[in-house]
Amino acid sequence: MTDYRRGFESLRQELHEPALPVSGQLPDWLSGTLIRNGPAQFEVGDQDYNHWFDGHAMLHAFRVGEGAVAYRNRFVASKSRQEALEQGEIARSEFATDPCRSIFGRVMSLFTPAPTDNASINVARLDNAYVALTETPLPVRFDPETLETVGAVAFEDEVDVDTSTAHPHVEPDTGRLLSYAASFGRPSVYKILEGSSEERARTVMARLEVDRPRYMHSFGMTERYVVLSEWPLVVNPLDLLLRGEPFIENFEWQPERGTRFRVVRKRDGAEVATCHAEAAFGFHHVNAFERGEEVVCDVVTYPDASIIDDLYLDRLRSDAPTPGTGHLRRYRLPLAGGTATSTRQSDERLELPRIHEGRATGRPYQYVYGVGTQNVGDFTDQIVKLEVETGAAATWQEAGTYPGEPVFVPHPDGTDEDAGVLLSVVLDPTAEQSFLLVLDAASLEERARAPVPHAIPFGFHGQFFGGAGA
Ligand SMILES: [Fe+2]
Repeated sequence: MTDYRRGFESLRQELHEPALPVSGQLPDWLSGTLIRNGPAQFEVGDQDYNHWFDGHAMLHAFRVGEGAVAYRNRFVASKSRQEALEQGEIARSEFATDPCRSIFGRVMSLFTPAPTDNASINVARLDNAYVALTETPLPVRFDPETLETVGAVAFEDEVDVDTSTAHPHVEPDTGRLLSYAASFGRPSVYKILEGSSEERARTVMARLEVDRPRYMHSFGMTERYVVLSEWPLVVNPLDLLLRGEPFIENFEWQPERGTRFRVVRKRDGAEVATCHAEAAFGFHHVNAFERGEEVVCDVVTYPDASIIDDLYLDRLRSDAPTPGTGHLRRYRLPLAGGTATSTRQSDERLELPRIHEGRATGRPYQYVYGVGTQNVGDFTDQIVKLEVETGAAATWQEAGTYPGEPVFVPHPDGTDEDAGVLLSVVLDPTAEQSFLLVLDAASLEERARAPVPHAIPFGFHGQFFGGAGA
C-alpha cells in the first residue's frame, strides 16, 4: 500500500532507536520529549475493529535534545488489549466495536460492564503522572522513559461518571486542570471536573442535568467560563444500557434540535448563558475567549455528524475516502443568552487543531495549526496554519506524504505568538516509514526531519513535555 491507506494498517513492532538519523538542523533550544498516542493494531485473531478510534493504543516517544532524536514505541498494556490477546478475540466494548457476546454474556455485561481502558486518544501529565487518555474515565499511567504501562489511575474520590473527555484544559495562569465528563441515567448529567490525578482527588465544579445527552469530544474554556457545545448528536441514555450496540451507534443525528451552547462560570459552576445555533458537528474546540458581552468560541466543524461514519476503517480503506478535515467556524455567544451567530473563518480545511497553549488558551489569539487536505480524497496531505481573524492560510506539503497533528512548541524567548516550531509525525508510505518533521512555525519552512524505521499508523494527539525525564 503506497498511499495514505498505509496509515490504517497495523504496526506490531516495538522499537527503541537511541539515535535516529537527522537531516537539517534541530533548534538548539528544543529539548524534551514529544509523546504521541494513536491506534496501532486494528484486528485480533480473525476479528476486525470497526473504527479508526478502536485500535489498540500505542505510544510513540521522540526525545529531542543536543541535536539528536531518540525514538521508542510501545503498546499501552491496557486490560482491553491484554484480554483480547489472551482470548484471541475482541474482549471489550470500544467506541464503535462491541465484542461478540453470547446471550448470557450480554445479560451479564449489564451487571458487570467493562468499559474499555484502551487509551488511544491523547496523553497528559497530571501532576507528576504521565497518562494516556481516551473517553472512558480510565486514564492509564505510563513511564515516560520506557513507555511501560504502570496501570490505571485509581481516583480517590466519589466522582461517578461514565465518559470523560480526552481533551482536558489547563488554565495557563493557575495550572488548574479542568475536564468535561458525563454520567448517563435518570437524570443524565454533564459534569465539569477539576483536577484528576492520583495525588489530588477530582471535584465537581459544575453539574448540568440533561434529558438527552449529546456526544461532545472536547469543550471550550475562557478565563472565566467553560463552554459546552451540544451538537445535535443525541442519545437516549436507556439505549446505552439496553440496546447492546457499540457506544457511538446509540447516538442519533437530530438536526432539528440545533446546536446548544452552555456557558458555565468557573467561579461558582453557574450556567450564565444558553445560546442556540444551527445544527453542526465538531470534535475539536480550537480556543475560546471573552470579548465585551460575548464569548467567542472557535471550533473545527462539519455540516453534520457523518464524519464519524466516514472514519470507519472500511470507509477509510475504500476508494471513496474522506478528506478527514472540516472548517474553522467562529461562534459568537452572547452572555445574555439567545442566538449565537457564526461565520466560517477560512475555506482552508483543518483538523487536529493546535495553538500556543501556554499563551493563547482562553484569550484572544492569532494562529491555529492543524492538518489539512489539499487534494480531497487524499486524506490529510498537508499542514495548515491559519490566521484565525482573517482566515489567511499558509501550508506545508510534500507530495505522497501524510502529516499528523502538528504540536506547537514555543521558543523559550519568543515574543511573537508563532515563535517556535511545529512537530509532526509524517507518514511516507512509499518509503515504508514515518518521520518526525520539525517546521519553523512562523514560516512553515522545514528545519529538520528524522525518519523512523517503520510506518506509524495515523494517530490522534500528542504533547511535548519540555525538559521531561523521558
Ligand atoms: Fe481529539
